[in-house]
Amino acid sequence: MRRKVSVTGIKPTGIPHLGNYVGAIRLALRLAEEFDACYFIADYHALNVVQEAKQLRHLTYEVAAAWVALGLDPEKVTFYRQSDVPETFELFTILTNLTPKGYMNRAHAYKAAVARKEELRRDPDDGINMGLYDYPILMAADILLFSADVVPVGRDQVQHVEIARDIAAYFNKVYGETLKVPDVHISEAASIPGMDGRKMSKSYDNTIPLFTISSSQLRKLIRRYITDSTPADAPKDADQSGLFQIYREIAAVEDVARVRAQLVEGRMSWGVLKELVFETLDHFLAEPRIHYRQLISHHEQIDALLRAGAEKARPRAQEVMRRVRAAIGVDAASA
Ligand code: ADP
Ligand code: TRP
Repeated sequence: MRRKVSVTGIKPTGIPHLGNYVGAIRLALRLAEEFDACYFIADYHALNVVQEAKQLRHLTYEVAAAWVALGLDPEKVTFYRQSDVPETFELFTILTNLTPKGYMNRAHAYKAAVARKEELRRDPDDGINMGLYDYPILMAADILLFSADVVPVGRDQVQHVEIARDIAAYFNKVYGETLKVPDVHISEAASIPGMDGRKMSKSYDNTIPLFTISSSQLRKLIRRYITDSTPADAPKDADQSGLFQIYREIAAVEDVARVRAQLVEGRMSWGVLKELVFETLDHFLAEPRIHYRQLISHHEQIDALLRAGAEKARPRAQEVMRRVRAAIGVDAASA
């Protein structure tokens, strides 16, 4: 029987951090055990923000090395660069002709960008490129090209997957059953707070990077994590603490319960919790770091594995494109 297909894209717009791991990478890797996983570096999605070749190249290697180091097995998963699968852009062009403009006007990322301009009393289109506007159509092309059954994403991407579903349904209504309508698979992981307590995000410059800092830099960074000023031996509000939220995501269940009790009863200081968070993360990263370092110092190995991934991906994409072309009437008559 055909295994169900899981498709997800990874935008090379920042150095992978703990929030990315807990919120996105972990679930995607778990699904890859069970599903026929097609995971790719969404480099053409990154183009609307990363417009320097050197930076795009650098981030592509960082992201690919991080995913493989954290357990993505390129032998089992189809792992490729979006830009190496040109069928994506053909499908994108076709879908732009079917997609009602209203879908794009309603997309959160675009609406938020417009709202920011309006707040600043600027022209709402100022600085907004068509890549941002069309973003959901390109994402629909990624998903529909591989007949995804599920699309694992964080909450912020759910609307985009819903748009992909709507576009597929619309295509099928116009041209007959051709495209698989995917399901969303939402990562239920909590939003991980950053060094300053706000959501961990490269946009806030408050991240805990996974691989680009050494073990001792990691310890120093975690020691600087913002906590309230409750004295060492006073009861602490563990559930309101960003540091404890991080610990809860990375530690074993039995340790979480014990540490929570110690904090709440005033038997553990924030300093000791910082050391525990460091040790847990450092221990978890020990093996992946070795793998990451090996890969990041051999870009040609990353290129080779992504190229091999594209070779697996393209015949599948071409099969879907044959159906799509036949449906829309651009196939040549076959003898
Ligand atoms: P950033 O917020 O640093 O710009 P991205 O928007 O590129 O990160 O996020 C990539 C993926 O990682 C998304 O699926 C997103 O849901 C997840 N993610 C990012 N930050 C966090 C966080 N602080 N907590 C949980 N998940 C996160
Ligand atoms: N937009 C996604 C993000 O910002 C990345 C992405 C691109 C994606 N294409 C996709 C995710 C297809 C799932 C499926 O994280």
